[in-house]
Amino acid sequence: MQIRKNLRNSNFIVFDKRNDLLESAAKYLFKLLKSKRNPVIGLATGNTFEPFYHYISSNYKKFGCSFKNATTFNLDEYVGLSETDMNSYHYYMNAHLFSKIDINPSNTFLPDGSSKDLKTEVLSYEKLICENNGIDLQFLGIGTNGHIGFNEPGTNPASITHVVDLSESTITTNSKYFKNKNMPRRAITMGISTILSSKQIVLIATGNSKRNIINKLISGKITQEVPASFLIDHKNTTIMLDKSAGKDLIG
Ligand code: F6R
Repeated sequence: MQIRKNLRNSNFIVFDKRNDLLESAAKYLFKLLKSKRNPVIGLATGNTFEPFYHYISSNYKKFGCSFKNATTFNLDEYVGLSETDMNSYHYYMNAHLFSKIDINPSNTFLPDGSSKDLKTEVLSYEKLICENNGIDLQFLGIGTNGHIGFNEPGTNPASITHVVDLSESTITTNSKYFKNKNMPRRAITMGISTILSSKQIVLIATGNSKRNIINKLISGKITQEVPASFLIDHKNTTIMLDKSAGKDLIG
C-alpha cells in the first residue's frame, strides 16, 4: 500500500512495508547511476540510513549499477572528531557504505571536522560541491526538531556550508551514541541553500518519533523554525515515510 500526497512542489509517499520504502528510495539512486556518467550524490548519516545503505550495498550490482564514476558529498560532520573516531560520520560512512561498494574512496567527501581552520574548511567544502557542478541527488533524514543536515531551527535559508552550534534537542537525541564520552557541541553542515541547490532531493523519515515533525511539514507552513519546511517549495523533492512517521497522512 502506498499513500501519496502532493504539497506544492513536494511529493509525500507513505509506505506500508519498510522494504518497499527502501527499494523505492534506492531506485532513485540506481536510476541516476545508470543515466549519468559522473553522478554527484549527497548523503546523510543516522539511524534512518543504516537499513538504506545496507539495501544499497546488497543490491546495487543486481540492478546493474556501479559507483566507479560517482562522487559523494556528505551533509555534515562533528567538529573535533577525526576520520578514525568511531563516532565520526567519516567512520559511519566507511562502515555502512563506502567499504561495501565499488566507489573510489578519493571521490567520497565529508567536511573535515578535525580541521584547525574551520573557516577555510567550510568555504572549500562549498566550493568543491560547486566545482563538481552541484549535487544531482541529495538524500536527507530529518531531526525531530525539523533539522536537515545540522541546520537547526532558526537557520537562515540562504546559508551555505557553515559551522553550527548544535541545539540542546539534537545533543540530547544524539548523545546516546557517544559512550563514555561527551558529544561535540558543534558541527560542520551544508547550509539550507546548499541543500536546496540539489537537482533532486529524497527525504526519508521512519518511526513514531518523526510523526510530529512530519505533521508540521504537511501543514505547509514554510518557516525558519522548521528548516525542512523549505523543501516544500524545492522543484523536485520526494518525502518518503513509513506508516509510523506518516500515520496522519493515512488518516
Ligand atoms: C545526519 C543528518 C541529520 C539526520 C537526522 C535524523 O547526517 O544530516 O539531519 O538525518 O538527525 O537522524 P536519525 O536518522 O538518526 O533519526
